[in-house]
Amino acid sequence: MVWERWQVSWDRQQELYLPDREERFRVMLDVVEAVAGPAPRVLDLACGTGSISRRLFERLPEATSVGVDLDPALLTIARGSFADDARIRLVSADLHAPDWTAGMPDEPFDAVVTATALHWLTTEPLLRLYGDLAKLLRPGGVFLNADHMPESGRPLLYAADETIRRTHRERAERAGALDWDGWWEAAESDPNLTDAVAASRAIYGTDDSGDTHPADWHIARLHEAGFLEAGVVWRCLGDAMVAAIR
Ligand SMILES: C[S@@+](CC[C@H](N)C(=O)[O-])C[C@H]1O[C@@H](n2cnc3c(N)ncnc32)[C@H](O)[C@@H]1O
Repeated sequence: MVWERWQVSWDRQQELYLPDREERFRVMLDVVEAVAGPAPRVLDLACGTGSISRRLFERLPEATSVGVDLDPALLTIARGSFADDARIRLVSADLHAPDWTAGMPDEPFDAVVTATALHWLTTEPLLRLYGDLAKLLRPGGVFLNADHMPESGRPLLYAADETIRRTHRERAERAGALDWDGWWEAAESDPNLTDAVAASRAIYGTDDSGDTHPADWHIARLHEAGFLEAGVVWRCLGDAMVAAIR
């Protein structure tokens, strides 16, 4: 199955940079289940190929999900692999756009989850997005954001972090995993994806001008956006996951 192969190779490529990717997804879904129970209505924000929704359905088969992303190639893989699954709806939207919520359902979500994505946004659209999420979640619902959130003043620890990641990356590459550029080249050469990859390149180009903030910054901004409580639920050196209760 071509789409399953792309799902697996996307996972391998992301794990090249995130050795603990599965661990953060596990903690994320632990929190979703604890807060929202066995049949949550979930928004998978900047879903890519739908990696989080796949794990959500494996763990909580009664869950439903709306996956939002802008990337035509990653959405093509998601649409292909979830083809017959009525539990998920995939929406193409740009989180930079003030009206990105136009395609969202009227009923509020129990959980919003996102990973390795919001650092692609600059600060102003991210603040607007946090306000939007406060409106899309039901009271008592949870938002989880796992991303690069380095703290200041820890150069020695972050040097160790970089060494750990580089060692892991080199080992994975020796075992055959594709890096980011290699993965996109491979996708482009698959006739199922060639046009979609060209469309992705036209959208994103080489611009990677998002902003990175420490976890405390996210926590403070989420409180300002109307969340009741926010805190770190997982951390591994420079990466962290912030959870916020609406
Ligand atoms: C590194 S991928 C992570 C995808 C998925 N969460 C995962 O962990 O596999 C980052 C995702 O953010 C999406 N993204 C970045 N900027 C976006 C925007 N402005 N609107 C919608 N999606 C965006 C990209 O298209 C990409 O799918």
